[in-house]
Amino acid sequence: MKDSGAASDQRAAVEVTKDRNGIEQVVLRNPRGASAKISLHGGQALSWRTERGEELLFTSTKAIFKPPHAVRGGIPICFPQFGNRGLLEQHGFARNRIWVIDDNPPPLKPSDSHGKVYVDLLLKPSEEDLKIWPHSFEFRLRVSLTADGNLALLSRIRNINCKPFSFSIAYHTYFAISDISEVRIEGLETLDYLDNLCQRERFTEQGDALTFESEIDRVYLSSSDKIAIFDHERKRTFVIHKEGLPDVVVWNPWERKSKSMADFGDEEYKHMLCVDGAAIEKPITLKPGEEWTGRLELSLVHSS
Ligand code: BG6
Repeated sequence: MKDSGAASDQRAAVEVTKDRNGIEQVVLRNPRGASAKISLHGGQALSWRTERGEELLFTSTKAIFKPPHAVRGGIPICFPQFGNRGLLEQHGFARNRIWVIDDNPPPLKPSDSHGKVYVDLLLKPSEEDLKIWPHSFEFRLRVSLTADGNLALLSRIRNINCKPFSFSIAYHTYFAISDISEVRIEGLETLDYLDNLCQRERFTEQGDALTFESEIDRVYLSSSDKIAIFDHERKRTFVIHKEGLPDVVVWNPWERKSKSMADFGDEEYKHMLCVDGAAIEKPITLKPGEEWTGRLELSLVHSS
């Protein structure tokens, strides 16, 4: 846990606190006062605030902050699968486990540290995890706040098995939005997608930009590395930069499904939109000793 590039400024800080269940959370603060909060429950970012204190991630007022529940909001990490197949729980177990702070991670490129305040987390499978998914791995996650207030998540997953394994991954990011009818996504035009509301049938996106008027649950395939979410009412745009994450999940439960979720308010679908950088359609295969790296960086642009 370090704040190397930002360490010279008094206001840059990394602070470890505990939530009401005694689970550690790490608060990152950059020199200009932007902040992020990451829980060791799931290695999950739960808050990302601008220097003016605006919250950019949605968390449900009904979220349950107790493992084995995943917290409804922030950025749950779906690993080693996305969805609900086999013995594994929905979206895999990583978001339901307690991660640890990794004080001595293997070195990264200088650009992954310089000018950033960050924390390194680590997840290794427990004996119980190995019974349902028999593959030894080390999942290292660096969550950083840049000098400009961008939130960056860098994942490194290493196979420490003696046989290959495959996995899927998604950063299931709940963006806080003014109103679902006021937002649009650009960057997914003309792409093929798998529609989870139609048994994963494949379609091609026809519209110029994606707008919302009903439930949506799709995996867009092989997108470019930049996606933008425009929020007209708040006059702000989220920009998603991703590397190693070809797919993009778009999810909003809308009215009927919201009412069936115990940890989500009936009207909250209006104020959130999940847009995930992901690798789903073509699972990633790692041979023994191999490591995969994926990067997601979120930034905010205000418009007048
Ligand atoms: C979506 C899935 O991306 O995630 C949906 O495709 C699911 O089917 C949603 O409802 C949220 O999942 P969960 O497990 O956090 O309720």
